[in-house]
Amino acid sequence: MKDQSERVVLIGFMGAGKTSVGEQLAERLGFTFLDTDHEIERKTARTIPEIFREDGEPAFRQIERKVIAELLEEEKKVVLSLGGGAYIQEEVRQVASAKAEVFFLDISWEAWKERLPTLIEGRPKLESQTLEDLYALYQTRRVIYAEGSKHILTDGLTIEEVVEKLVHTLS
Ligand code: S3P
Repeated sequence: MKDQSERVVLIGFMGAGKTSVGEQLAERLGFTFLDTDHEIERKTARTIPEIFREDGEPAFRQIERKVIAELLEEEKKVVLSLGGGAYIQEEVRQVASAKAEVFFLDISWEAWKERLPTLIEGRPKLESQTLEDLYALYQTRRVIYAEGSKHILTDGLTIEEVVEKLVHTLS
C-alpha cells in the first residue's frame, strides 16, 4: 500500500453504499472509519437538513470543505466516506487526491432508482426533485467522480464483495 493510501476516501452518489462499505473496509484494514456528514453533525451539533434549511447549501459546502481538509490532514489509517456532493468541489478533489487513495463507488441509474424511495429522508438534495432533475444531477456528478479516482461498479455486488474488490485493488 502506498503511504498515501493509509487514507482511503470513498466517493459516489447518495445511497451508493459509501458508509456501509466504508465501515466494513475499515474493519478489514484495521483502520478508523469516519463519515464526513457524521463529523459535520458532530462538530456543528446540527443535522445536515438543519444546516441546509437554516444556512443554505453554500454554507454547508464551506463547512464540508473545511472538515474534509482537516480530517485528511490529521488522520492516518483512516477510511473516510464523503457526502455525495463533496467531491464536486475542486478543493476537495485536490486534497483527497493528494492525501488519499480515492475510490468511486459507482451504481447504475437503474439500480439507484430502485433504492430512491429509501433514500429521500434526511437528504435535502433529494427532496422536491423530479426524477429528471435527479438523473441530470447523477449524470453531471458521475463525470466528476471519475476524476482522479479508481472506479468500482457495485451493481449486483454485496457489501462484502465490494470490500473484497477494494482490498484487492489496495494491496
Ligand atoms: C449530499 C449528500 C449527502 C449529504 C448532503 C448532500 C449531496 O451525503 O452530504 O445531504 O449533495 O449529494 P450522502 O452521499 O452520504 O447521502
